[in-house]
Amino acid sequence: MSVLVTGGAGFIGSHTLISLINAGYEPIVVDNLCNSKKTSLQRVEAIVGKTIKFYENDVCDAAAMDKIFEENKDIDCVIHFAGLKAVGESVAMPIEYYNNNILSTLVLCNAMRKHNVKKIVFSSSATVYGAATEVPLTEDMPTGATNPYGKTKLFIEHILSDIFVSDNDWSIVLLRYFNPIGAHESGTIGEDPKGIPNNLMPYIAQVAVGKLEKLHVFGDDYDTPDGTGVRDYIHVVDLAEGHVKAIDWALKNKGCEAINLGTGNGVSVLELKNAFEAASGVTVPFVIDPRRPGDLGEVYADASKAKNMLGWEAKFDVKRMCEDSWRWQKNNPNGYDE
Ligand code: NAD
Ligand code: WQD
Repeated sequence: MSVLVTGGAGFIGSHTLISLINAGYEPIVVDNLCNSKKTSLQRVEAIVGKTIKFYENDVCDAAAMDKIFEENKDIDCVIHFAGLKAVGESVAMPIEYYNNNILSTLVLCNAMRKHNVKKIVFSSSATVYGAATEVPLTEDMPTGATNPYGKTKLFIEHILSDIFVSDNDWSIVLLRYFNPIGAHESGTIGEDPKGIPNNLMPYIAQVAVGKLEKLHVFGDDYDTPDGTGVRDYIHVVDLAEGHVKAIDWALKNKGCEAINLGTGNGVSVLELKNAFEAASGVTVPFVIDPRRPGDLGEVYADASKAKNMLGWEAKFDVKRMCEDSWRWQKNNPNGYDE
């Protein structure tokens, strides 16, 4: 059975293709490569030993999306990864973020409705919990986003929920990812941020490989055991497996459900740095800087809904996440650029 994967050339999408193929699904990718390279798909093909059907198109392009569904009548469900994802950039470029993320979802859902495809798994984010003060975060907690990127995720959750209200025949899974890190064990695919990384793990990895001088730890005065920010890091391969479980659920059930994908464990900035040093054998120099505006002290998931509803839970620990991130970074110091 075919699954249309928007944004399938990206970090999480590329790993999910492998899990889908291993589970017997046939992914078809649409990606405009605005934040990825075709090389990631070629590397996935080398890992799985199969070719993957790829459309280089913008999901905002209604005619192109219509053609994809027209040409692939066996598409039964969609995983919608395509989107812009940098929080700081979204504050500087709100029009581009609202346009890309919201319009692509509307165009996609319109094409799905036209072709009677009514199962979708959407890449949402823990960012939809906004400035939540209580942890662990459960799916029924109030939502609210503090930046344009987060607002696009929240608005899209509302749009998809309204689609279900209008037509109960849909199956919609809103996966709220916590902090995906790690890479496929082959070390041939991984996260390839443009420019200086915004996120902690790629920053640590680039310091370790000598591309950046030192880690800037954003604040050590949070109300956490060592004062640095605590997050729920999840191995990208675990996250990928979560998508397969979500598709399995969507094929058997109807409804619209928000589900956290996290480990349920909080790890501090310094703990992650230390675990990375242990995994890589490389020292990561650091300085303590002021807090980053908008950051919260502690964010981690209650992951019990995913376990109960999807039969999914994360398997990999922080040591494994660091080993795999390091293998990818060490073997590909410039990401997919040769
Ligand atoms: P990514 O940038 O690596 O992948 C996104 C892919 O979508 C890229 O290949 C990009 O080229 C493509 N894309 C973007 N806009 C498109 C459009 N209009 N048409 C076609 N393709 C388009 O990001 P990722 O880390 O793999 O994230 C995937 C999804 O998960 C995103 O929606 C992101 O917001 C969400 N998410 C990511 C994280 C994270 O920390 N990585 C956390 C929570 C949620
Ligand atoms: C983690 C911790 C930082 C970088 C972001 C998005 C969120 C989601 C995942 C998409 C925090 C600290 C970081 C650095 C540091 N993305 N840090 N030095 O902020 O939890 O989440 O990515 O949906 O929406 O907001 O992740 O990796 O940026 O930060 O000290 O150079 O590391 O302060 O405590 P975050 P992150």
